[in-house]
Amino acid sequence: MIRSGTRPEESITLKRIRSIVRGIGSYLPKRKLTNQELEKIVDTTHEWIVQRTGIEQRYIADDSETTSVLGIRAAEAALADAGLTAQDIDLIVCATSTPDHTFPSTATMIQNGLGITHGAAFDLQAVCTGFVYAVATADKFLQSGSHKRALVIGAETFSRILDWNDRTTCVLFGDGAGALVLEAQEGEGNSADRGILTSQLRSDGRYREKLYVDGGPGSTKTTGILKMEGREVFKFAVGMVTDVVQDAFKASGTTPEELKWFVPHQANKRIITASADKLGIAPEKVVITVDRHGNTSAASIPLALDVARKDGRIKDGDLVMIEAIGGGFTWGSALIRW
Ligand code: COA
Repeated sequence: MIRSGTRPEESITLKRIRSIVRGIGSYLPKRKLTNQELEKIVDTTHEWIVQRTGIEQRYIADDSETTSVLGIRAAEAALADAGLTAQDIDLIVCATSTPDHTFPSTATMIQNGLGITHGAAFDLQAVCTGFVYAVATADKFLQSGSHKRALVIGAETFSRILDWNDRTTCVLFGDGAGALVLEAQEGEGNSADRGILTSQLRSDGRYREKLYVDGGPGSTKTTGILKMEGREVFKFAVGMVTDVVQDAFKASGTTPEELKWFVPHQANKRIITASADKLGIAPEKVVITVDRHGNTSAASIPLALDVARKDGRIKDGDLVMIEAIGGGFTWGSALIRW
């Protein structure tokens, strides 16, 4: 942060609180569903799905694997990775569009499952952009000094809101959960700091009809089923994503060349590669897990981050860009120095 009224050479960077990544974890349901198995359920082919989306398989939660159960497993893995216990956490933000119940929140169920009785826990709903919104929200809590350590979770069971007779949607989604532990630490206030360097959030409710669920407690009194105009979503996605990523580079004073890893929401391989190409991000910096996870909505980014961290790609100090677009539309990005 530059104090105004000083010449550049005299400028003073002010120390500020950063939300640094202490740990990451994820959890996938036991049951894997391949494209070949889907061929027996709807009129589709492995080749069509791979060519149009890059997806080869996804995981489907059984009745016992509710969103909160997936979230608890991911949170436990993230705490273990951080070397912390549940009692060290004073904030839980859970991004989900598929909560166990209309209320209480999935976050409070995860809090209870972890044995935490202090601090605050709440859900946040921004569909596939949910995890980016949750990271940005937790970051603002930590920066304010009100909380010290946050679990930021993306957990979904989209298989429950799919029409398994609709080949245009049921082949695209999967279930899973991922979690980050963020901790408030003092930084120097420049882009060399570890932690969340910037987050950029956007939404525009005019696009509601392009991707929505056709029910809810306040309208139909039912859960509803996912509806999507796939081609239309595709048309908007690349432009929106690239705008918000460029804004993150601008706000943080960093460049695509400095970026080590681009970890987008995993909806469609073609959207991911077209976005990276437009942004000038080299293909080898792009983390792709949509082939093995499908689109897990708010869980897709932390699942992908966990894969790239555990296989040794993401190292401490690496600059990592996350971004997503989802129903609403909502879209956003966050730049993290790991
Ligand atoms: N298997 C075989 N054929 C299928 C199919 C499936 N699962 N789903 C659709 N088709 C058919 C269509 O009926 C259509 O047939 P027609 O030409 O005879 O009418 C044809 O394939 C092409 O459909 P279209 O919708 O134009 O394909 P597409 O190239 O746009 O690919 C998506 C469809 C959904 C994969 C693509 O639009 C997409 O990924 N959109 C973005 C969706 C997304 O990411 N949403 C989440 C955002 S968070």
